[in-house]
Amino acid sequence: MQTAEIFPSLNDEASLQFNARGELQHLLTLKGLDRTTLTQLLDDAERFVSPVGGEAVRSDSLAGRTVANLFFEPSTRTRASFDLAGKRLGADVLNLDVNTSSRKKGESILDTIYTLRAMQVDIMVVRDASSGVPAYIARNVNDQLSILNAGEADVSHPTQGLLDLLTIRQRLGRFEDLTVAIVGDIAHSRVARSAAQGLHTMGVGELRLISPPPLAPDPAEMPYAKILDNLEDGLRNADVVMALRIQRERIGNLDGIPGIDEYFANYGISSKRMQIAAPNAIVMHPGPMNRGIEIESSLADSPSSVITQQVSNGVAVRMAVLERVSKAIGRH
Ligand code: CP
Repeated sequence: MQTAEIFPSLNDEASLQFNARGELQHLLTLKGLDRTTLTQLLDDAERFVSPVGGEAVRSDSLAGRTVANLFFEPSTRTRASFDLAGKRLGADVLNLDVNTSSRKKGESILDTIYTLRAMQVDIMVVRDASSGVPAYIARNVNDQLSILNAGEADVSHPTQGLLDLLTIRQRLGRFEDLTVAIVGDIAHSRVARSAAQGLHTMGVGELRLISPPPLAPDPAEMPYAKILDNLEDGLRNADVVMALRIQRERIGNLDGIPGIDEYFANYGISSKRMQIAAPNAIVMHPGPMNRGIEIESSLADSPSSVITQQVSNGVAVRMAVLERVSKAIGRH
């Protein structure tokens, strides 16, 4: 049985990401990363985007490095893409089987990290259901180790935010005059938070967060966003529509949360509803996707959908991040 650990929530994640030379050593959050840094990461990722139907881009820039994937919550896309990203850069990649790891026997997360560090792991990719875990680890390691946040409770998912920015930039070429509508369970979504932080930094024209009232965020959290509960108001003339699933695993009491049919009727994104969005609007979804609940199945496979491009960009973005932090940490 895994022992419940308490992870202090401090507000220094943004500055904790940089080493004494000002280099990005950890990626914990998009908060505190300025437009120049985000743009550089997107430009770096472009070098790793594989051509459609072509071979995957490879490099040996991480040869001699070891990357460990520690996913204490389920994942398909993020875990697979970090695995491929590390391998395509020439690193050794360890995918720890958390179901048989000693954390299940009560070992603390730090002892797990220090154990892997003793095996010359250089970069740890961490997903955990508790908030504060990536920053807690980063605060307790030296300048030879990098911690990458691969999804932290409902707080943050910075590489997802980057791949969403990259996909929007590729398809629409800009951020400044765009209207972006994020629809769904904003309250429990780390994807929405990281997307919102990144879009705000990049100077997006208008950001709308649309959800049923019980799933709305605290307005004080993202004062730069418009919070709406009417889908039509949210979709009108939007250039980007991002659908999110309801994060039922994070909701203790489901009273008042719409059921499947009610949700699709009021908040599901469909081709018909997209008619009030801007011409050539794109449809995004971070996955995992519940077809017929938050998004109409045929829309997810339509030409306006960029969901496959998001997945593909996930590898490129993670290659860029791995390469960047690898330059900031010393050799053991
Ligand atoms: N978008 C995302 O984080 O997907 P996974 O949970 O499959 O990694």
